[in-house]
Amino acid sequence: MRRKKLDGTKIWKALKAERAAMDGVSLRQLFAEDAGRAEKFSAEAGDWFLDYSKNLVTERTMGLLLGLCEEAGLKEAIDAMFSGKKINETEGRAVLHTALRNRGTEPVRVDRKDVMPGVRAVLAKMGAFADKVRSGEWKGWTGKAIRNVVNIGIGGSDLGPAMATEALAAYSKRDLRVRFVSNVDATHFAEETRDLDAAETLFVVASKTFTTQETMTNARTARAWLLEKLGAGEEAVAKHFVAVSTAAEKVKEFGIDEANMFGFWDWVGGRYSLCSAIGLPLMIAIGPENFGRMLDGYWTMDRHFAETPFEKNVPVILALLGIWYGDFWGAQSVALLPYDQYLRRFPAYFQQGDMESNGKRVTKAGKVVGYQTGPIVWGEPGTNGQHAFYQLLHQGTELVPCDFIGFCKSLNPIGDHHAKLMSNFFAQTEALAFGKTADECRSEGVPERLVPHKTFPGNKPTNTLLAEKLTPESFGQLVAMYEHKIFTQGVIWNVYSFDQWGVQLGKTLAGRILPELQDAGAPLGHDGSTNGLIRRYRKANGMA
Ligand code: F6P
Repeated sequence: MRRKKLDGTKIWKALKAERAAMDGVSLRQLFAEDAGRAEKFSAEAGDWFLDYSKNLVTERTMGLLLGLCEEAGLKEAIDAMFSGKKINETEGRAVLHTALRNRGTEPVRVDRKDVMPGVRAVLAKMGAFADKVRSGEWKGWTGKAIRNVVNIGIGGSDLGPAMATEALAAYSKRDLRVRFVSNVDATHFAEETRDLDAAETLFVVASKTFTTQETMTNARTARAWLLEKLGAGEEAVAKHFVAVSTAAEKVKEFGIDEANMFGFWDWVGGRYSLCSAIGLPLMIAIGPENFGRMLDGYWTMDRHFAETPFEKNVPVILALLGIWYGDFWGAQSVALLPYDQYLRRFPAYFQQGDMESNGKRVTKAGKVVGYQTGPIVWGEPGTNGQHAFYQLLHQGTELVPCDFIGFCKSLNPIGDHHAKLMSNFFAQTEALAFGKTADECRSEGVPERLVPHKTFPGNKPTNTLLAEKLTPESFGQLVAMYEHKIFTQGVIWNVYSFDQWGVQLGKTLAGRILPELQDAGAPLGHDGSTNGLIRRYRKANGMA
């Protein structure tokens, strides 16, 4: 169905007028006018409570924003995704990461074929393998049990399992070391393996395509490292390498036995693949049971997203608020601020999740958009961020909507750490929302010349996401919540959220430049800047 230009629709124009009407409205005023505001602007999904009352919105604003869902056909789009329609049209693929965590009994069909038996078979194979590694039954070439697992992958084949393995470390088998090598910079491989005993090390080569330069380079280096350390021949590879990929032929070519390959499907996008076999290192770390609990969590959020009316639908509310600030207030970024050290890499994970999905400049019809699409996503865990960039959040000139993510209970209840952590968590959203006026400064005796410096304007929008405890379930729910937020925004912006053509050009050019860095005689046909830089590199490497 052809969509009307989003910024030409009535609802978009009404939102523009709404933005103008909100000029000068303060959160202090909105809270003073409505004692029930916090309750009114809150929603629940699974274990998560969302308080979005500290946003620059009224019921009228939310009503208008919800109109965008209707305009964009969000309900139909959700149904299309969940039912396996080929909504990734530029790649001709279905988008079915939700099938990976489908805990129901209904079939999920792609091209009329139920994908669920395949999904369950791979999960069972992963489970059996993870158990063998965890119990010590799986032996390396010299007969030693595995104590180190090194995942070699990049992007979606790295960020998810790396982030989740850290997030769920409290549920992991502590005597197994799980590490991640992604960068083609040899330093990454060298530093992550320098203290490892090859005889006790298992490499998981994770690549959807099994062609990615970084991963294949690291995998070859790992194979050479292993064989050299063990003084073994190719026969040792089968005991120390497994592969996760959709490309069985290429895995075989690399020398990994198909029995040691865990497959997935082209309808799983790289950045949405954590619940597929890409999650193998995580499953080895936390065990199949905890992995299953995580899938339960994902599924809870999937159901919530698919079945809850939009006005109470947490991913939808988050998406609409993001659009409100990006498209109507000029906010260019959003900060994800987990107040939990285990979620340290959560912002980095959703940098790919969001920016690779919605960092698009043309609509599905190929027309340049007349509005802002995906934001810059960034963040660090609290309280570290408070001592780094919060100054700008409070008093800078950029508007940065922030999501505060926290838990009522700590997994490490030591002394009063958690109360202190959470006092900061609650204080920050309060300070951002309500600020401190010049008069308040004066009444505290602040000298007049310092008053402007010590004033906090407030009106900085935040969402607070609070759950009781970080568990595999609440973690799965949280990740799915953001996945669906991104989906919703992509639908409203009318962009293709599941391709990533923007990463291709750099890859192609790097492929052309590589031989020029290896052969001094290769002619340089680039622009003046690139030629000059390559010559400098060649000179430093004694090539000229
Ligand atoms: O950076 C582009 C990209 O294609 C990502 O979308 C993907 O997650 C990553 O490369 C890794 O790809 P693969 O799993 O095929 O090695």
